[in-house]
Amino acid sequence: MKIGVIVGSHRKDSESAKVGRFLCAQLTTRSDVSTWTLDLGKTPLPLWDETLWSDGPQWSGIPALKEELDECDGFIMIAPEWHGMVPAALKNFLLLWAATGELSHKPALATAVSAAEGGAYVIAELRISSYKNNRLCWIPEHLIARQVKSICNDDITANDDALQQPFAERANYALDLLLAYADALGGVRASGVINHDAFMNGM
Ligand SMILES: Cc1cc2nc3c(=O)[nH]c(=O)nc-3n(C[C@H](O)[C@H](O)[C@H](O)COP(=O)(O)O)c2cc1C
Repeated sequence: MKIGVIVGSHRKDSESAKVGRFLCAQLTTRSDVSTWTLDLGKTPLPLWDETLWSDGPQWSGIPALKEELDECDGFIMIAPEWHGMVPAALKNFLLLWAATGELSHKPALATAVSAAEGGAYVIAELRISSYKNNRLCWIPEHLIARQVKSICNDDITANDDALQQPFAERANYALDLLLAYADALGGVRASGVINHDAFMNGM
């Protein structure tokens, strides 16, 4: 089982990446689970334009990226809340994929990050508008890493235990659920019912 972690901040050394490292560490304590991370702050992607469809030169990295995504059974999408929104880098990433494989009919755990008590707008935005053509399946549970400076730190002495412990409990529950959905949705993808040719742009 392989879980892809997409870090949606534009910042090179982001709190979102830190949360991603924490979630990866939790996942790799489970047997037979590996992770792959794409940090859009460290590896920014070009903004979508129509040359994506004619293999324009700026898209030369896409086949290798597609291969990585195809290999994943599920995803964690991490988005800091910026002005109540998902950062453009993550929306752009979600715009790039619309074929079979990649993200399609694979489960995803939406994870918001806030320096304070925010994060809910990000979850709502991802659930409402980020899956139609790429066919990503948001699982019912989500995570919000609030007061993020006090949790998930690489140096655990910098954590506030009163915040870290409940977040870790929720995270581990949500990760177990993500893995169960990843297992189950493999059956949907293998079932033969998916027909993106007939319904190219979703419903
Ligand atoms: C441009 C900008 C806008 C922000 N807007 C919000 C917001 O609307 N709600 C919120 O809870 N935090 C907001 N924050 C604080 C971020 O949640 C916080 O800085 C977070 O750690 C940024 O994540 P990152 O380090 O992964 O980029 C904002 C931060 C920035 C840089």
